[in-house]
Amino acid sequence: MPEAEVKKGRNKDSVANTLIVAVSLSLIASILVATAAIFLQPVQKKNEELFRQKIILDVAGLYAPGVDVSELFSGIETRMVDLATGEYSDEAAASEFDAIAAAKDPDTGISIPPKTDIANIRQRARLAPVYQVRDGGEVTQIILPIYGTGLWSTMFGFLSLDPDGTTILGLRFYEHAETPGLGDQIDKPDWRAQWAGKQVFAGDDQPRIEVIRGFVDENSAAAIHQVDGISGATLTGRGVTNLVQYWTGPHGFGPYLSRLRTEGSGDD
Ligand SMILES: Cc1cc2nc3c(=O)[nH]c(=O)nc-3n(C[C@H](O)[C@H](O)[C@H](O)COP(=O)(O)O)c2cc1C
Repeated sequence: MPEAEVKKGRNKDSVANTLIVAVSLSLIASILVATAAIFLQPVQKKNEELFRQKIILDVAGLYAPGVDVSELFSGIETRMVDLATGEYSDEAAASEFDAIAAAKDPDTGISIPPKTDIANIRQRARLAPVYQVRDGGEVTQIILPIYGTGLWSTMFGFLSLDPDGTTILGLRFYEHAETPGLGDQIDKPDWRAQWAGKQVFAGDDQPRIEVIRGFVDENSAAAIHQVDGISGATLTGRGVTNLVQYWTGPHGFGPYLSRLRTEGSGDD
């Protein structure tokens, strides 16, 4: 064999060698990443579930650092509601329910007519979970998952209502990408505290609750439906108004809330 060819065959820095090493390394790395992802998926799912439970407990005023979240949450009953009728449904298991995936699936989701889509979410699932907080067997709070578009992001939260679905007990956003120091005030305790005691409705099915521009005039008749605006973040505030009104309105949980008003906590 000519000397040049032998040298070529042993050359570690040859293009072929470099490619083999690069491809092998990326293969090994992808196998490792894929394996880790598969093994970590159940842990990740469990953590997401715990996080969701913690937020629901928090909006219910039941969370404190150090509590056993799973155990405390086991006192909260989750039921699926058919949003069109407001009736409870067994069509989907609440524990497995993914509202965003269900919204996108034509079998489980519907398109929202543009004029109705004030939360700017385009589609939603036909069913949604509601969380019933009990005290001594009595339902004391109904917690609804709500979401909609702010200035920069989709804002996800929970709204807690009294058992007849009219008085707000708490509001908590847990995921959004509004600007720190501006839109992210929606997640701050001082701003959130204003929601407790506010009335969603004013005698009919149309939600009146709103984030106004500026400060609420406590002497005005409308004050019971109003929350202070966030300075420099009017658009995020408008997004909150729209999504709360959408989810408590006729195309959201409206039929369910109307049933609560007429039939009590609907614990059938
Ligand atoms: C970098 C930057 C980030 C902003 N972030 C937000 C935000 O998160 N939410 C919001 O409503 N407005 C935000 N704004 C301001 C809006 O563009 C708009 O001016 C504001 O909502 C109007 O509210 P105001 O009437 O209270 O000033 C931001 C503006 C800038 C320049």
